[in-house]
Amino acid sequence: MKLRDMPKAELHLHLEGAAPPAFIRGLAAEKGLHLSGIFDDRGAYVFDDFWQFLKVYEAATSVLQTPADYARLVSAVLEDRAADGVVYAETFLSPDFCGGGDEGAWAEYLAAMQEAAGAAEAAGGPTLRGIVTCIRHFGPDQSRRIARCAAETAGNWLVGFGIAGDERTFALRDFAWAFDCAREAGLKLTAHAGEWDGPASVAAALDHLRPARIGHGVRAIEDAALLDRLAEAGTVLEVCPGSNIALGLYPGWRMHPVDRLRRAGVAVTLSTDDPPFFHTTLTQEYARLADAFDWEEAEFAAINRAALAAAFCDADTRTRLAPRFA
Ligand code: HPA
Ligand code: ZN
Repeated sequence: MKLRDMPKAELHLHLEGAAPPAFIRGLAAEKGLHLSGIFDDRGAYVFDDFWQFLKVYEAATSVLQTPADYARLVSAVLEDRAADGVVYAETFLSPDFCGGGDEGAWAEYLAAMQEAAGAAEAAGGPTLRGIVTCIRHFGPDQSRRIARCAAETAGNWLVGFGIAGDERTFALRDFAWAFDCAREAGLKLTAHAGEWDGPASVAAALDHLRPARIGHGVRAIEDAALLDRLAEAGTVLEVCPGSNIALGLYPGWRMHPVDRLRRAGVAVTLSTDDPPFFHTTLTQEYARLADAFDWEEAEFAAINRAALAAAFCDADTRTRLAPRFA
C-alpha cells in the first residue's frame, strides 16, 4: 500500500499551526488586515528558530477573530488531513485565542468548530476530537482560566487538556492546579515537555501533571532511567520528527531519537505538530522515517494502532475506528 493511502491516526496537531498560509492570507485580505514579516517571497511561513516560530504563529492566529473563522479553519485543516490519509485526529485548541479565556465566548467558538468537524465527518472526512491547551508563556494564572473553559465544555468531543508554548518559561509544577481541574472534569491529559527543555522536564511533567501522554518528550533519550520509567508507566510520546528537524533540535533524520525510543520500549506515536510551518505531512514523515530507519508498512501500522489505543476519544469511537487500522 502507498504510504499516502495508509489509514493514519494523528494525536499532536495545533489547529492554528495546521492553517495553510494561503488560508491565513485570504482571511487577512477579506478583513483588510496587514500581516508583515511572516511570509517569505513564495508565501511560506518564515522564522529562524522556535521562539520566532511562536511569534509568527501568534501573528498568523491574529487574523482568526470569530467562531465562523475557526469553523472555516477546521474545514480547511480536515481537508488537508483527509488528503494525507488521516482518519482520526486530535487537535489542540486554545481558548486564549478563542475569546481570550472567557467561558461564554469559548463555548461559542467550540460549538462552531465542533459543528464544522461534524459536517466534515458526515461527508466522509476524518473523525476529529479536541484538546484544550493552555499556553505556558501566558503563565499559570491564565492557565486556570483556560482549564475552567475546558472543564465547562468537557465531553465526547472536547476530550483532553494540555499545555503548549515556550517550555523555558515558568515551572511545570505551577500548572498543576489547571491539570487537576481538567482531570476532575474527566479530561485526559498531555503535556509538551522534553523538546526544548531536557529530560528533567519530562520527569517534572510526570511528577506534577500526571499526563497519559507527553508532547514530544524526545529528550528522554538522554536519561536511561527516565526511559525505563516511561516504558513501565506506559506513557505515550507524541513524536513529531519533522518538526524537531525543521526547528533545528536534531541535525537530520538519522540523528533523530525516534527509533531508539521505540527500541527502549517507549510507546511512540507520530504526528506533524504544525505541518505547513514545517513543510511536512504525515505521509512525508513516514517516507523520511522509512528512508532513515528502514521502517516498513508494518511499523507504521503498529504505530497507528498505538495511536488509536492512546487516543482520548471514548470507547465507542475507538471501537468504530479500530477496523480501519486492523
Ligand atoms: N510547540 C509548542 N507550542 C506550540 C507549538 C509547538 O509546536 N505550536 C503552537 N504552539
Ligand atoms: Zn506541539
